[in-house]
Amino acid sequence: MWKGRFQQPTSALVQRYGQSVSFDWRLYAHDIRGSIAHAKGLEKMGIVTTEEREAIERGLLEIKAEIEAGNFSWSQELEDVHMNIESTLTKRIGPAGAKLHTARSRNDQVATDVRLYCRDEIDAILQFTQAMQAALIECAERGADAVMPGYTHLQRGQPVLFAHHLLAYVEMLARDADRLQDAKKRLNVMPLGSGALAGSTLIIDREFVAQQLGFDGVTQNSMDAVSDRDFVAELLFDIALLGLHLSRLSEDVILWASAEFGFISLSDAHTTGSSLMPQKKNPDVAELTRGKSGRLIGNLMSLLTTLKGLPMTYNRDLQEDKEPLFDSIDTIKLALEVFAEMVCGMDVNRAKTAAAASDPLLLATDLADYLVKNGVPFRQAHEVIGKLVAHTIKEQRSFHELSLEEYQQFSEAFQADTFEVLKMDVALAARKGIGAPSPANVAGRITHWRKALSGN
Ligand code: ARG
Repeated sequence: MWKGRFQQPTSALVQRYGQSVSFDWRLYAHDIRGSIAHAKGLEKMGIVTTEEREAIERGLLEIKAEIEAGNFSWSQELEDVHMNIESTLTKRIGPAGAKLHTARSRNDQVATDVRLYCRDEIDAILQFTQAMQAALIECAERGADAVMPGYTHLQRGQPVLFAHHLLAYVEMLARDADRLQDAKKRLNVMPLGSGALAGSTLIIDREFVAQQLGFDGVTQNSMDAVSDRDFVAELLFDIALLGLHLSRLSEDVILWASAEFGFISLSDAHTTGSSLMPQKKNPDVAELTRGKSGRLIGNLMSLLTTLKGLPMTYNRDLQEDKEPLFDSIDTIKLALEVFAEMVCGMDVNRAKTAAAASDPLLLATDLADYLVKNGVPFRQAHEVIGKLVAHTIKEQRSFHELSLEEYQQFSEAFQADTFEVLKMDVALAARKGIGAPSPANVAGRITHWRKALSGN
């Protein structure tokens, strides 16, 4: 491939080791888009004529169509997507093709391609994230009346609505979407024109080229621009965190689907059987998603480790950015898609969640709050209820079964309306502060998200 100073061909092993076309071919559309814009820049500065620019464009679009039809033959000898496309173009259109790489290096080219690629993929991930949020909201709405215990330390804490629990994930995903939008803003500047590391003596109108490519601006330091992969690291982090949120939800789903909880049932289409135990219905989708989050975190770590010791500017190590990037993008898109489908087929088992929520101890805090409303300082109220709990456990009776007189032995502040506090609907409705799970609040959030997701 390299003529000029080399007298020996590249060793076959080195070729095999260094080729990236087996994976970076995926950048073809962005590479071609970048080259078409670059050719326009060359035309504007008089390096190529309009006819030559048109020939370049036609040739590139033809190559693109061939790639998409599966008719393009990639060559590992040509190392990467950039050289495969450029060399085929030059073979076909001659001298005009040989001018395309003027004032450009693969270093600024690849940095530009990857940014364009990330920009498009962020949009795709955002769409899948929204669909996942919509699925959660739909499931929350179907189970809007289901009451369940909320947990801390995986111990029953206080009553919540099942819908409130699901909406917690909608909030997480909204932050994930915000982060992705933010990453997109930061990466949308064009490195092209930075050359290998020090720009070029052939001055191209970078702002004009950037405009052609929909970039918001151009990078301001050529050395930074060819070596910066912050934007990849950022995207990998955003994806890892998104995957981590799905992993937490997976864990909830796995617990809920167990016989011990029995809070939900998953559709047959989203579970698998066992090759040995005929009764099994396993939540594999959730388990796989929990497992894949390890891979997403690994991809982030892999890139950070690659970057950490690199001297300025471009180093071939940077070629190692792509496989983790592609893998994380593929993984998260599929995880979101399959998870959304599974959530749509997920049903809450109200009887089971209600039975778990009927544990009277869930309302211990409500009783303490009741005492506070009757003038008892909270710390003291906490202690009173603690003793009351010990009493009910010892007597094997529930809060409902105690008489007012018994309550009053623990505190004079208990009145006849104590028993009101112990009603689940009262307890839930009372949690009406912003962000708390009263049915009215939860309904309000469902409406809010429905509107937000439909863009109104
Ligand atoms: N395939 C290379 C990469 O992904 C393209 C840039 C190569 N540049 C170079 N000077 N060898 O990083």
